[in-house]
Amino acid sequence: MTDNKTAAPLAFDEDAITNTSANRHFSDVLQVRLSRRQALVGGMSASAAFLLGGSLAGCSVGDDDDAPAPASPFSASVGFTAIPKSLADAVSLASGYSASVLYALGDPLDNATSAWSDAGTETGASYEKRSGDHHDGMSWFGMTAAGAWDDSRSDRGLLCINHENITRIFLHADTTALASPRPEDAALKEINAHGVGIVEVAKNGAGTFEVNRASPRNRRITPNTPAELHGAVRGSRFTVTRYSTGGTMTRGTINNCANGKTPWGTYLTCEENWAGYFKRAAGDDTHVQRTAAEVTLLKRYGINQGAGGNNAWATVTPADSASTVFSRWDASIVGASAADDFRNEPNTFGWVVEIDPFAPAANPRKRTALGRLAHENAEFGKLVAGQPVVVYTGDDSRFEYIYKFVSDALWDPADATGGLAAGDKYLNNGTLYVARFNADGTGEWLALEHQSNGLGEDNVTFPFTSQAAVLVATRLAADVAGATKMDRPEWIAVNPRNGEVYCTLTNNSNRAQGANPGVDAANPRNYTDLRGATTQRGNVNGHIIRWREDNRRNDALTFAWDIYVFGAQADADPALVNVSGLTTDNDMSSPDGLWFDPRGILWIQTDDGAYVDVSNCMMLAAVPGEVGDGASVAIGAQATHVGKAPGTRLRRFLVGPKECEITGVTMTPDGRTMFVNIQHPGEDTASGNLATPAGYSSHWPYTADATVIDATLKRPRSATIVITKDNGGVIGS
Ligand code: FEO
Ligand code: CA
Ligand code: CA
Ligand code: CA
Repeated sequence: MTDNKTAAPLAFDEDAITNTSANRHFSDVLQVRLSRRQALVGGMSASAAFLLGGSLAGCSVGDDDDAPAPASPFSASVGFTAIPKSLADAVSLASGYSASVLYALGDPLDNATSAWSDAGTETGASYEKRSGDHHDGMSWFGMTAAGAWDDSRSDRGLLCINHENITRIFLHADTTALASPRPEDAALKEINAHGVGIVEVAKNGAGTFEVNRASPRNRRITPNTPAELHGAVRGSRFTVTRYSTGGTMTRGTINNCANGKTPWGTYLTCEENWAGYFKRAAGDDTHVQRTAAEVTLLKRYGINQGAGGNNAWATVTPADSASTVFSRWDASIVGASAADDFRNEPNTFGWVVEIDPFAPAANPRKRTALGRLAHENAEFGKLVAGQPVVVYTGDDSRFEYIYKFVSDALWDPADATGGLAAGDKYLNNGTLYVARFNADGTGEWLALEHQSNGLGEDNVTFPFTSQAAVLVATRLAADVAGATKMDRPEWIAVNPRNGEVYCTLTNNSNRAQGANPGVDAANPRNYTDLRGATTQRGNVNGHIIRWREDNRRNDALTFAWDIYVFGAQADADPALVNVSGLTTDNDMSSPDGLWFDPRGILWIQTDDGAYVDVSNCMMLAAVPGEVGDGASVAIGAQATHVGKAPGTRLRRFLVGPKECEITGVTMTPDGRTMFVNIQHPGEDTASGNLATPAGYSSHWPYTADATVIDATLKRPRSATIVITKDNGGVIGS
């Protein structure tokens, strides 16, 4: 559950560490002191006591003395009472709030498509008109009745929803669909259940949001939808395939994790664990046509020879022998040249992809200038007219990096309705940087530019022959530049009150384990934790780091950082683990989803596997302070910089059903409707239990539906829920 896994034969190991670079790290390995299940003994360390000063003194909610006034009319304060942790198969919400299910796995997107059967009998092709699985990042685009973008509208709009992955068994009628070689329609269904959905929603006469199935803007973008490559990689030798011998096109997008919303009315979807879908034959490394540079590149992204590929789609023998819908997932060399096979297909994934939800016929555009990695989300820095546009992205894998793209073009507010043309202007040309976090609380952005920072053709790691080579091999370029290896960068969010940037570092059970990098100032924890009887080590609960660009310029090359909060169980050792002084009202593990609403309330969502013996995954709300409001402290032997303890300004708002992840959140501009995604409830259900519903580990959303007579017969489904305040008020306040 921790790592977005879907059980599958020959599954890609998302946990495999492919960063073997010798980038600097501190080797101060902390010695394990306490289990979080053991009773605490002794008092707090001096440093922890200092940090807890704010909450012990009972700091009031929302008393952010130093931050500038919010731009939004809403007050930036958290006004609800925190809820307890929960193991129930239900969505629990703060008192005074209600939730309903809007759009669940398999729901039809037009009036010609049948309703979800709950029997797995839908065809593969039908998923081109159905909700995909594993709802993830999501953005709201307000819309006029005539179908034009209007970002002030709260009653009608388009939801753009990522469908990151699948829980295979609940898509199918029975386990024969899982046979190998894979049956064609079963594999097509699994492929089509990935991608992105664009869904028109509007309030009905009763004021309740519903999907408008008649909308001409409803659309699924699947891994088979034609997509364009843009930026320096377009037309390069790296993206030549049998599908696009000119290297300018590919098909679709996959493992769409989190998202971004551009200032010009388009949606960004981010390709995260795409590498796992590729097969590569045993012995492919030594194929006569395979170059050493190609092998280096494939390995750095985790596509090793002998990999079977998630779901083994390449094993399908299609009825149409000319179809390459399945064979494209085999990155082995099988043809006479790159134009005859799909050896380069992996190079067409790993990008941030721009979609215009108001142009249903427009192809998605892959913005290669933002780098190729396991992108989590894409977050814009605060816009300033006349300054570059900046986009932050994290690479979610253990010991990977945090990146920033700075556009060449300077922001012109006249482009605010520019759609994909504005994307071409701002996202195709610019400089990609990677972050180094220094021990003294400063940091640097290191440029990934051809012929600078050692990124030339003669580099011993990889021949960086062009900027296209730098971008295709972004991780290798970042290794060379000397970036800091982080504890799995997930979402990045920018505080609208002051422009400071927050990044979840979800967890890293390999930190300071064996030959892996030790702790450093920005990734300072290594401890032992128990989940039931299972021993967990490293930084299993994660933390949230934040930084302020120097002179508050998004294009600054230096910054100051501290750690906003450490995930921890409330009764864990305050010196080594619960350094932020979390209580039963806000203790959490593995922060992942992260979003500032327009008033500056920070919503934190968890994707946890470490604390799930105590609680299902959750969402919390906070009003954070600012970089530098805490102190420099030592966690064991490791010095670091920690913000003021969140205290009661961080509160648990929602807890999800069993085995779900809470991920994806957006609001209408009036603040009165919030959309949240419940991803993969019951994901750990064994395939063999498909025929025995009593063996499903969740039945949500049916457990929340009083009209369902026997929810225990129902399949769990990922879904978008709608949250409102019972008095019609602004959410969170
Ligand atoms: Fe798709 Fe890193 O979460
Ligand atoms: Ca997940
Ligand atoms: Ca995530
Ligand atoms: Ca995660």
